[in-house]
Amino acid sequence: MKAPVRVAVTGAAGQISYSLLFRIASGEMLGKDQPVILQLLEITPALEALKGVAMELEDCAFPLLAGIVQSDDATVAFKDADYALLVGARPRGPGMERKDLLEANAAIFSAQGKALNDVASRDVKVLVVGNPANTNALIAQRNAPALDPRNFTAMTRLDHNRALSQLANKTDSTVNDVTHMTIWGNHSSTQYPDLYQAKVSGEAAMEKVEQDWYENDFIPTVQQRGAAIIKARGASSAASAANAAIDHMRDWALGTAEGDWVSMGIYSDGSYGIQEGLIYSYPCTCKNGDWEIVQGLEINDFSRGKMAATEQELAEERDAVAHLLP
Ligand code: NAD
Ligand code: LMR
Repeated sequence: MKAPVRVAVTGAAGQISYSLLFRIASGEMLGKDQPVILQLLEITPALEALKGVAMELEDCAFPLLAGIVQSDDATVAFKDADYALLVGARPRGPGMERKDLLEANAAIFSAQGKALNDVASRDVKVLVVGNPANTNALIAQRNAPALDPRNFTAMTRLDHNRALSQLANKTDSTVNDVTHMTIWGNHSSTQYPDLYQAKVSGEAAMEKVEQDWYENDFIPTVQQRGAAIIKARGASSAASAANAAIDHMRDWALGTAEGDWVSMGIYSDGSYGIQEGLIYSYPCTCKNGDWEIVQGLEINDFSRGKMAATEQELAEERDAVAHLLP
C-alpha cells in the first residue's frame, strides 16, 4: 500500500463537497491504491455541519481513508497538503453572472493563497472551483509567491464535460466517441467551446453538425448551462461540479488518455497569443503529474474572435481585483 497523501478541501460542508468527499475517499480521484487523509476547511458557523459530514465519512468505512482533519483555520487544513480543492465560496443565484461574486469571494482566495504559501507541500496541486474560478485561482496564485504558478488551476472541466454530452447527443453518438474537445478562456458566459478541433468517431465534428447549430445552439447552451441548472434546480450544479473536480484532479495526477486532451484553466505562458499570467482555459495533456498546453492547433478567425473576447473579460476581472494581487 502507498503512503497516504493529504487532500485539503474547502467549503467541506457545502453542497459540492457532499458529492465530492465520498468519491475522493473511495479512491475515484487518485486511484484505488492511494490512501488519503482528508483535511477539511469550513467557516466557524459551519463546523457543526462539517462534523456531521465527517461522521458520515467514517460510517462508510472507506479502506483508503487514512484520516480526517476538521478545522476553521486554513493553516491547519492546508498543512503539508499535496492536493487542495478550493470549493468554499458563495454560489450565485438566479440572474447573476459569476463575476458578480468577485467582491464576495475574492478575499477568501487571497487569504487561502497565503496559507497555502506558508504551510502546504511545495508541490501542492491546487484546483479552484469557487466562482469566479479563474480569477479566484489568479488571486490565490499571486498570493503564494513561494509556490510554482503552474500548480494553481481553475475548473473548466464541467464546461468540457457539458460540451461532450451536447455534441454526442446532437450526433447520435456517445461521449466515448467524442474527442479533442476544447474550452478556451473563462469559466463564464464568454467561454469559447471550440468544435473546430473536436472529433466524433475520429472524424471532424464540424462536418457532422451545421454551422447554425454550432453558433446559435451549441455555444450558448454550453456557455449558459450553469444558469440553466440554477433555474431548473433552484441551486447551482453540485454533483456534476464534484464529478468534474474528480476528473480534473485525476487526469492531472494520473495522466490524460493517450491521443486526447482535456480543458484546464491554467497559468498562461502566452500560448496562442493570450496574455501571459492570466488563468485561461486551454487544451492540455497531463503526464507524470504535470500538464502541458497542446500546441500548434490551427485557429481560424471565428475562433480567434471568441478567444479574444473571453481573454478580455479575464483581463477586466484581473484589473478589478488588482488590490489583491501583490
Ligand atoms: P455551498 O454554499 O453549498 O457551499 C459552500 C461552502 O463554503 C459553505 O459550506 C460555506 O460555509 C463554505 N465557505 C464559505 N467561505 C469559506 C471559507 N472562507 N473557507 C472555507 N469554507 C468556506 O456552495 P456550493 O454549491 O458547494 O458551491 C461552491 C462554489 O463553487 C460556488 O462559488 C459555486 O459558484 C462554485 N461552482 C463552481 C463550478 C465550476 O465549474 N467552476 C461549478 C459549480 C459551482
Ligand atoms: C456552473 O457552471 O454550474 C457553476 O459555475 C455554477 C454557476 O454559477 O453557474
